[in-house]
Amino acid sequence: MLRKAACLLPLLFVLAADAAEPPPAWAYGFKATMPPNATPAVVAAPGTVTPPLPDFPLLGLPGTDLKFTPAQIRDNFRPADWFPQDHPTMPDIVAKGKAPVVWACARCHYPNGKGRPENAGISGLPVDYFIAQMKAFRSGERKSADVRKPNTPMMISYAAGMTDEEIRAAAEYYGSMPWTQWIRVVETDRVPQTTLSAGMFLQVPGGADEPLGNRIIEVPEDADAVEVQRDPRIGFIAYVPFGSVKRGEVLVTTGGGKTAACSTCHGPDLRGMTLPEVGALPGLAGRSPSYLVRQLYDIQVGQRHGKRLELMKPVVANLSTDDMLAIAAYLASLPAR
Ligand code: HEC
Ligand code: HEC
Repeated sequence: MLRKAACLLPLLFVLAADAAEPPPAWAYGFKATMPPNATPAVVAAPGTVTPPLPDFPLLGLPGTDLKFTPAQIRDNFRPADWFPQDHPTMPDIVAKGKAPVVWACARCHYPNGKGRPENAGISGLPVDYFIAQMKAFRSGERKSADVRKPNTPMMISYAAGMTDEEIRAAAEYYGSMPWTQWIRVVETDRVPQTTLSAGMFLQVPGGADEPLGNRIIEVPEDADAVEVQRDPRIGFIAYVPFGSVKRGEVLVTTGGGKTAACSTCHGPDLRGMTLPEVGALPGLAGRSPSYLVRQLYDIQVGQRHGKRLELMKPVVANLSTDDMLAIAAYLASLPAR
């Protein structure tokens, strides 16, 4: 009897551990796993700028004659627009936001909507889907499972501070630009040493390399241009474990006995489509794998929920975080268009 129980114990342990897998820290922009008693991030009071940024020197970038200071580059209410010729005229809410609460969308997602791993690529999203997400942030249906993540509560406060007209203007603006290639997926077992800058992994200059392990590490193709100048033309490298793309392909295309083929709802080439009765679904091809894993995990644990997401619940129910990693590695490797 005792022996039987002893045999069962490790099994129960594994099952329990599976059910309660913590949020994968790397996807949420952290090195250490969220502790059970983690302090939730709070949005800083409007007007707080920490640390104040210098108004010198004037910095430039290849491909433009425009110059901006660090303070102008990160101005929350009119961030630098290095390449106005790359995008249509921005509506005010995108270019300037609405002081003191709503930062310019361009501040984080860039004027071209390409975004960064710690926020989201939002160009090319169907207008109705975009609007539905803003309403989900506003209503409390969309949060982050890693309560330490600082910018999801910020996004929630913007959605709450916007009028329906402002939301539609932003959705139509970003929806008018197609999603194009932005991420280069590289399979490897070692990655450059990284530090974190407000939730984004950055290569340590002159640093050694370290084991990748079961993570995806997304870094800018040029750390300085992206972090100092916020160059919106420079994309990202996603380092993913050897074999993960192939493993993800099986799950995405066949379900692998654990999930459903994603193309049924997200379109034959996974670039989005409209389902009768449901509406427009977003594309998944060529999107940030860290972003995708956060969404899959948030949906699995119910931090992202709502009527339309009932369709996604069975899709994610049996996925481990390693499955999510593989799915995201494959999706990110697909051509955006
Ligand atoms: C401080 C940075 C920041 C600013 C400024 C910002 N966002 Fe976001 N946004 C985020 C983050 C972070 C997420 C993703 C959260 C997550 O991981 O789920 C996000 C996600 C989104 C999404 C969901 C994308 C999807 O595929 O579902 C939309 C839509 C969006 N933002 C629109 C906007 C609009 C419109 C504005 C301007 C009013 C704006 N954002 C300003 C940080 C920001
Ligand atoms: C039965 C239909 C269905 C299937 C199959 C399906 N999805 Fe979805 N998915 C949805 C719906 C509906 C939404 C949008 C929900 C909303 O409006 O918030 C969604 C949203 C998502 C999102 C969030 C996108 C964003 O921009 O934030 C991700 C990521 C996602 N699905 C991944 C997948 C993956 C990966 C698969 C395959 C393993 C898959 N889905 C299969 C219906 C489906």
